[in-house]
Amino acid sequence: MKDIMFNRHRRLRQTENMRSLVRETHLRKEDLIYPLFVVEGENIRNAVSSMPGVFHISMDNLKAEMDEIVSLGIKSIILFGVPAEKDDLGKQAYHEHGIVQRATRFVKELYPEMVVVADTCLCQYTSHGHCGIVKEGKILNDPTLDLLAKTAISQAEAGADIIAPSNMMDGFVAAIRRGLDEAGFTEVPIMSYAVKYSSSFYGPFRDAAHSTPQFGDRRTYQMDPANRLEALREAQSDIEEGADFLIVKPALSYMDIMREVKDRFNAPVVAYNVSGEYSMVKAAAENGWVNEKEIVMEKLTSMKRAGADLIITYFAKDAAGWLS
Ligand code: PBG
Repeated sequence: MKDIMFNRHRRLRQTENMRSLVRETHLRKEDLIYPLFVVEGENIRNAVSSMPGVFHISMDNLKAEMDEIVSLGIKSIILFGVPAEKDDLGKQAYHEHGIVQRATRFVKELYPEMVVVADTCLCQYTSHGHCGIVKEGKILNDPTLDLLAKTAISQAEAGADIIAPSNMMDGFVAAIRRGLDEAGFTEVPIMSYAVKYSSSFYGPFRDAAHSTPQFGDRRTYQMDPANRLEALREAQSDIEEGADFLIVKPALSYMDIMREVKDRFNAPVVAYNVSGEYSMVKAAAENGWVNEKEIVMEKLTSMKRAGADLIITYFAKDAAGWLS
């Protein structure tokens, strides 16, 4: 034994204090963005069956929810609207009194410091469930851009602090940036869903947001999970068009992409820890197969290690509580 040479990595792992001294990655409450589903109607706080712990919340129940979020130390939310009416042009997405616009005004009045991110898309609002204008079974790119810019402007008028377009039409960042600037919102940043894969991990969300496409799928606009270089081209375009943040979505199966995006671009990177990633942990935890707290903290920390500066996650409230 005496003459073998080897390194003693275990020296730095001996005690909890020693381990925390050399810990490289830290998850903070400030890193978390909590998604909320706001619905029309009154006195609604309905559990979303595919996402245990996630609720549809009507405006009159939003105060209680916001109080809890604030008391946990969460500083940022992302709003998703579930409108009562849908039509082929998704008009409720850019209506002055649309559900996201009303919820944004309400939250900003109640908690002016809260960073409100507005998801900018059409799929919850269109009768066909696609993220763009549909003609003869095709999703039209350029005509959709005007509607997205209109949506972003109406969200900024309502007080949204950040616009987060998730539709994956080409040129959406450029169109929204120009629209916001012309409307005087030069200071409102764009958190672009720059790298968004066409993923089965969105299943539970579509249940929650009532946004399942009524025909076909999203593969002509969302990305092929097999592609890496395409992700870099998408991120590059969004930076050139004026994106302030780059989202990589989903998170867990795309950590390699997150790292590359972080290394190549000088913008904050946001991991979207999506619904399927959430519900799978919930199901396993409910069955007693995994330790929920440990699994969740491990996953969120891993996303940060992979390059995420921020994380959009349905676990934000749980994680904030555990971090206290
Ligand atoms: C669509 C949108 C999706 C999600 C957020 N906005 C997915 C989709 O249906 O394509 C998914 C979020 C999640 O799964 O948590 N604009």
